[in-house]
Amino acid sequence: MKNINYNDDGEINAYKIKAALTAALFGKELIYLEETDSTNEEAKRQAKKGADEGFLVIAKKQTRGKGRHGNVWNCSNGSNLAFSLVLKPDKIFEDITSLTLTAGLSVCSALRKAGVRAFVKWPNDIIINGKKAVGILVETSFEDNHIAYIIAGIGINVNERSFDGELKEKATSLYIETGRKFDKIQILNLVLTELEKNYYKFIKEGNFSIFSEEYKSLCLNIGKEVKAISRESVITGIAEDISKKGELIINTGEKGRFCAVSGEVSIRLMDGKYI
Ligand code: BTN
Repeated sequence: MKNINYNDDGEINAYKIKAALTAALFGKELIYLEETDSTNEEAKRQAKKGADEGFLVIAKKQTRGKGRHGNVWNCSNGSNLAFSLVLKPDKIFEDITSLTLTAGLSVCSALRKAGVRAFVKWPNDIIINGKKAVGILVETSFEDNHIAYIIAGIGINVNERSFDGELKEKATSLYIETGRKFDKIQILNLVLTELEKNYYKFIKEGNFSIFSEEYKSLCLNIGKEVKAISRESVITGIAEDISKKGELIINTGEKGRFCAVSGEVSIRLMDGKYI
């Protein structure tokens, strides 16, 4: 990796980000915005205007940042990373929903390369010492039975010093957990490099099976009691395994095994943790 240090948030601009990124395609074309509603929304606008695969939208501030399940993910003070990638795969794959797990695995591996002991909470929250440091929102747009584009949006709490209110119990940052200030652009570069490598493996393979063992080894749900909440039901049991398709297999005891599918089910840990 090129040794360029842009810890001073005021110094970041599109040119400097571009100069520091080393992935073959991801981030080769990009826009950096001081402020936007949501990088996912801006990436959609860019995708509709013709932005190609790998186009990156990165913003210092989001005013209407989106989380999963209708949650809000704002990013306002320049300490953290909020970015979205445009993906335009040229084929339909068997289990597009597991792209979200591939993104989670990639971010987790990238943070480990930066020396952070990160884990994945199924399907794609990144957890450090029991608190959430990264959120990922993958949105797919279909057109006449084919994928028009996919937006992979990633928010990483990098150098945030503290969280208030209810977030205090749930959220953390790389800085809070390690006591080190990180170079945001180096973290971005590590993530884009890992994501690019894994995305193309995923596209080539057409399914998640090549990653299921590695994912399982980093998944903190395995062996724990979980509650799976879907529109229809709430199920509790022990999370036992990750299927080849990336489903979380939950052993409910008397009622047998239940396969939780990403996007349909949200998971709560039952061991007293807040996440
Ligand atoms: C979650 O709820 O865990 C997902 C949060 C995803 C947040 C990121 S920040 C960059 C991108 N833009 C958005 O509006 N959301 C994603």
